[in-house]
Amino acid sequence: MKKIILTGDRPTGRLHVGHYAGSLKERVLLQNTGNYDEIYIMIADAQALTDNAEHPERVRQNIKEVALDYLACGIDPEKATIFIQSMVPELTELTFYYMNLVTVSRVQRNPTVKSEIKQRNFEASIPVGFFCYPISQAADITAFRATAVPVGEDQLPMLEQCKEIVHKFNSVYGETLTEPEIVLPSNSACLRLPGIDGKAKMSKSLGNCIYLSDEPEVIQEKIMSMFTDPTHLKVSDPGHVEGNPVFTYLDAFCKPEYFAEFLPEYQNLDELKEHYQRGGLGDMKVKRFLNHVMQTELAPIRERRQMWEQRLPEVYDILKAGSMSARETAAKTLADVRHAMQIDYFESKNLEM
Ligand code: TRP
Repeated sequence: MKKIILTGDRPTGRLHVGHYAGSLKERVLLQNTGNYDEIYIMIADAQALTDNAEHPERVRQNIKEVALDYLACGIDPEKATIFIQSMVPELTELTFYYMNLVTVSRVQRNPTVKSEIKQRNFEASIPVGFFCYPISQAADITAFRATAVPVGEDQLPMLEQCKEIVHKFNSVYGETLTEPEIVLPSNSACLRLPGIDGKAKMSKSLGNCIYLSDEPEVIQEKIMSMFTDPTHLKVSDPGHVEGNPVFTYLDAFCKPEYFAEFLPEYQNLDELKEHYQRGGLGDMKVKRFLNHVMQTELAPIRERRQMWEQRLPEVYDILKAGSMSARETAAKTLADVRHAMQIDYFESKNLEM
């Protein structure tokens, strides 16, 4: 069986280090292993419209931003097909057929949908399209016969729902669709990077993000203002590293060699943590170190982004070519689906079974 990756992001803003740690970094690693036959990276504009129906301009602008963020992180258009979801209308048709295989109560039980409905104050009036987006996500994944879906942990319920749809479809219409597996980052600190304010999630609406495109001074300012351990008032006080976002970021991004380079009085992160817990290590010192770490990690990304910003026509060509090629692949799966469902009327000689 071919090894195929499909994943994507909603274009509702520039991507931030939470996206990077939780999924983008993993995608680039997987891409560069050379172990995958096909890689599809999708800008999920149709999904973004499910809760931005009145702001198509917002979605439109952010397609460019997300494409730039992808290229900046090292997604290589020679190895991966980057495409725009709505440019592959086959996905909508698949969604329509899958809708018959899912109950309303099943979608209502989806924990991600539940929390997003709350977050958006949709309780009283949920747009039908928004409600159905887990089903459309199953269409995205299965259209490309993806075997691996590298996403953040919050997408686990979507993958569960997708697998159920695959099973249901295959049991009703015969073996047709491929079951995907979620790929989560192996480093648990990357699973859910907190915001700089210490809130559980980095999110544009909370204003607690470090963006991949942030300038060095902005990154520094954000890091120096980060929430730490509120009980660590004096340098001599013992501090907590659990739930302390400064240490979570270090867990996610620090490489051993950064100590020799920026903080040679410590051998490694464990030593630094021990000192903090014991007392006698100030937040400012740890933040300055984290700033060095983040600047080192983000500089090449920002530079590559600026390079691609100078080549926007090429970026559009990449998206256009990617969308055309993605459409061909999705059309083949759709043909198989229509055949399995016995609605490929004009493919056979007549309408008899
Ligand atoms: N839901 C994803 C997000 O919020 C985007 C997405 C849409 C996606 N379809 C997908 C991710 C299919 C993985 C697979 O960013």
